[in-house]
Amino acid sequence: MKACFKIVRNSEERLQAYAIRAIVYLGEQHCPWDEEFDGNDDAATQVLGCVNGEPFATARIRWFAEFAKLERLAIRQPFRGAGHGHELLAYLLAVCAEKGFAKAYLHAQARLEPFYARHGFERRGATFAFSDHLYVEMAATIARDSGAITLADGPMVLNRPEGEWGRPGILERSAQRMGMKGAPLTPAYR
Ligand SMILES: CC(C)(COP(=O)(O)OP(=O)(O)OC[C@H]1O[C@@H](n2cnc3c(N)ncnc32)[C@H](O)[C@@H]1OP(=O)(O)O)[C@@H](O)C(=O)NCCC(=O)NCCS
Repeated sequence: MKACFKIVRNSEERLQAYAIRAIVYLGEQHCPWDEEFDGNDDAATQVLGCVNGEPFATARIRWFAEFAKLERLAIRQPFRGAGHGHELLAYLLAVCAEKGFAKAYLHAQARLEPFYARHGFERRGATFAFSDHLYVEMAATIARDSGAITLADGPMVLNRPEGEWGRPGILERSAQRMGMKGAPLTPAYR
C-alpha cells in the first residue's frame, strides 16, 4: 500500500490528524486529553498521511530558530509494521530540509530510540518522564545540500503553499491576470 504524506491545510485534514492522535494517544496510550492536546497545536505545522485516501498517520512540527522539533508521530495500529513509520519520519525530515533547518530534535519514547537512530538521531542526556512514559532527547543533523528554499528562489516560489514548493501555486496563476493586461509575469524559479 503506497502512502502519501502532506502538510495539513484545511479543517477536514486537521480533523483527520487529530482523530488519529486521539485513537493512538488517548485510546491506546491512555494519555489525558489536555496533555495530548497541550496548547501547541495551533502553533505547529500538522502533517497527515493517507493510504488509498484513508488517513492513517500524523505528526506535527514546531519551528525554533536553531532546530525543528518533531512531535506526536502516530500511525493507526492496523497500518503499523509496514514501514510507514520510517516513511513518515523521512517525510518530516524532508520538510525540515526544504525549510532550511540544519537540525531536527525530538523526544523519543525510550523503546523507540533505535527507530529514530536509523534516521540519524543521536541521544542527548538522561532519560526523563512525562505523560506516563519514559523519554530520551534525540537530535539529528540535516544535510545542508538538501535543496532548501532560499531567497534566491524568488518571490513566487516563496508564496507557494507550505510543502508544495516544487509546483506553481495559486498566486502564480493570479499573476497571469496581470500578464493578460500586458504587465510582465513574475518568473518562477523552481
Ligand atoms: C512509532 C510508530 C509511528 C512507528 O510506526 P510503524 O508503522 O510501526 O513503523 P515501521 O513499520 O516503519 O517500523 C519502524 C521501526 O520501529 C520499530 N517499532 C515499532 N513499534 C515499536 C515498539 N512498540 N517498540 C519498539 N520498536 C518498535 C519497528 O520494529 C521498526 O524497526 P526497524 O527500524 O528495525 O524496521 C507507531 O508504532 C506508532 O504510532 N506508535 C504509537 C505512537 C508512538 O508511540 N509514537 C512515538 C512517540 S515518540
